[in-house]
Amino acid sequence: MTKEVLDGLLSDLQEFFKDDYSGHDFNHTIRVYKLACNLARKENANLEIVSLAALLHDVDDVKLTQSINYQNARLMMNKYGIDALIQEEVIAIIQDVSFKGNQSKSPATLEGKIVQDADRLDAIGAIGIARAFTFGGNHNRPLYNDEKPELDMDEASYLKHESSTINHFYEKLLLLKDLMNTDSARVLADQRHQFMVNYLEEFFDEIEGKK
Ligand code: ADP
Ligand code: NI
Repeated sequence: MTKEVLDGLLSDLQEFFKDDYSGHDFNHTIRVYKLACNLARKENANLEIVSLAALLHDVDDVKLTQSINYQNARLMMNKYGIDALIQEEVIAIIQDVSFKGNQSKSPATLEGKIVQDADRLDAIGAIGIARAFTFGGNHNRPLYNDEKPELDMDEASYLKHESSTINHFYEKLLLLKDLMNTDSARVLADQRHQFMVNYLEEFFDEIEGKK
């Protein structure tokens, strides 16, 4: 991808995400893009496919748009004359990236696995904690309550489930470390995971009045 194409896409994406505060904002896309490029270098993957799929992974998310058949990603790639075969590889990755409870899929290609790892790394650690509470506030969810977390949900139940933000840690965030596809991502995930474990310990100590 040339510098012109990258700059053009970045400015299109900034415009696309300008009104989103749900956690799928432009900065999330940039972080996933950077993480994915770092992983791609370590894992010797195709950098053009990884870059495009990382940049476009959220533009057709059903939670954000009414998009049909990945029209937003296709429109942006057509605008910059991206080759049709590359476009198909990118779309195939975007289809599988998102977390879908126990029906989550691992993308078939190394490039897809890397983008999924990068998206999941951005859901954990310090940033992941901030995003979870932002999402919770945006959706009027309590910080925590007496309900038990629902483990092992299928895609439909996961999408309609309305949990407290603390339960979301048990329903998704703490599961992600063991779902990483690549060794390079696993190293980063272990550190971010431990940070969340420490955070939760501190959180419960405070609400139980131990601190
Ligand atoms: P993706 O499609 O990238 O797999 P989501 O759209 O499910 O992820 O989530 C976007 C962000 O919002 C993530 O950081 C995720 O952990 C957070 N999030 C999703 N559902 C909840 C929830 N019920 N409570 C708190 N945070 C959530
Ligand atoms: Ni994402």
